[in-house]
Amino acid sequence: MVIYARNLLMPSAPSSTVARPILVTGAAGFIGCHVVRELVDQGDHVIAMVRTSPSHLFDGDARVREVCADVTDLRAVIRAARGATRIVHLAGMTSLRGLSYDAAFRTNAVGMMNVLDAARLVKAERLIVLGTQSENTGAYARTKREADELVLASDVPHVVLRPSLVYGPSAGGVFGAVAAIVRKLSVVPLIGGGRYPMAPVYVDDVTQAIREALARPGLEREYYLSGPEVITFRRFVSAIAAAQHRTLHSVSIPYPVAALGIGLAEMLHVPLPVTSDTLQGLVHPRLHDPGPAARDLGLRLIHVEEGLRRTFGGERSDRHARDRTSLS
Ligand SMILES: NC(=O)c1ccc[n+]([C@@H]2O[C@H](COP(=O)([O-])OP(=O)(O)OC[C@H]3O[C@@H](n4cnc5c(N)ncnc54)[C@H](OP(=O)(O)O)[C@@H]3O)[C@@H](O)[C@H]2O)c1
Repeated sequence: MVIYARNLLMPSAPSSTVARPILVTGAAGFIGCHVVRELVDQGDHVIAMVRTSPSHLFDGDARVREVCADVTDLRAVIRAARGATRIVHLAGMTSLRGLSYDAAFRTNAVGMMNVLDAARLVKAERLIVLGTQSENTGAYARTKREADELVLASDVPHVVLRPSLVYGPSAGGVFGAVAAIVRKLSVVPLIGGGRYPMAPVYVDDVTQAIREALARPGLEREYYLSGPEVITFRRFVSAIAAAQHRTLHSVSIPYPVAALGIGLAEMLHVPLPVTSDTLQGLVHPRLHDPGPAARDLGLRLIHVEEGLRRTFGGERSDRHARDRTSLS
């Protein structure tokens, strides 16, 4: 394990007259963009950490300061965290990248160590991390679990939120890949007939959970964050098609055939919209009760039909106008 010098770049204390910002890593990602917007809407100042700058995502927003840093570079992360009082860590290699274990470990686990070191140096009051529900053996799931364990064992005040599949307006992420397949193909291949259960969670529920976890005292150290209903993958895909005004035509692919095909494509470096890691996560989900998160974070989780209507209706979500169902 790599040992890092914690006093490498001691940041100077920020002026007390300057608003104390929240560092958001992975700010240009699917969930990151939504989180930055939510925090700014609530009046917070944000340091948006992106890997490639300028992103132009936050142009014209005086409350957002964009910084460029790779999460595997400790010095860069410490520089980015300078002045932050709280940190939301979202930067990560997701299952769509077709990763080697080493590459995933560098970004997800070493990146987590760097964020923890930076959090200690700036004496962050709280660190919020998006962890994983996955218990499979893929590189993504394993390295995310390792990262979660690092946080849970740390002395940095933290909350680990473990979302199920997150969906919402985005061209990227696992949901973006599934939505694109439904949009582009006239016949959608459903592995194992899509009979596996899932409880997808709407992105605004995730951003609200993060905001509440940043603010509320006395929380547990980890929460599972799933949607309010368990549906099959097939039903989810049908609902995505319906929300895009399409009728779902599908063909069932036996799991071993799909796993073999995707494995072969990966060996031959043929890019596919779904990786072995993604497949494992979708087909072998663990379902978790979102009740404790809903209760402690005051969430009224949104149902799939409504979430997809907002996703494809192009509507900017309005927390107060939403028709939600209380789980608490
Ligand atoms: N979406 C879900 O269903 C889901 C479910 C459970 C947990 N999560 C977790 O939630 C977090 C955000 O996920 P997401 O769906 O928003 O994924 P995403 O859209 O892929 O965003 C991840 C962001 O991390 C950045 N990143 C990757 N490697 C980096 C590095 N070495 N240094 C700095 N930045 C780096 C990416 O930058 P580039 O754009 O430059 O690659 C991207 O902007 C991840 O930790 C993920 O594991 C997501």
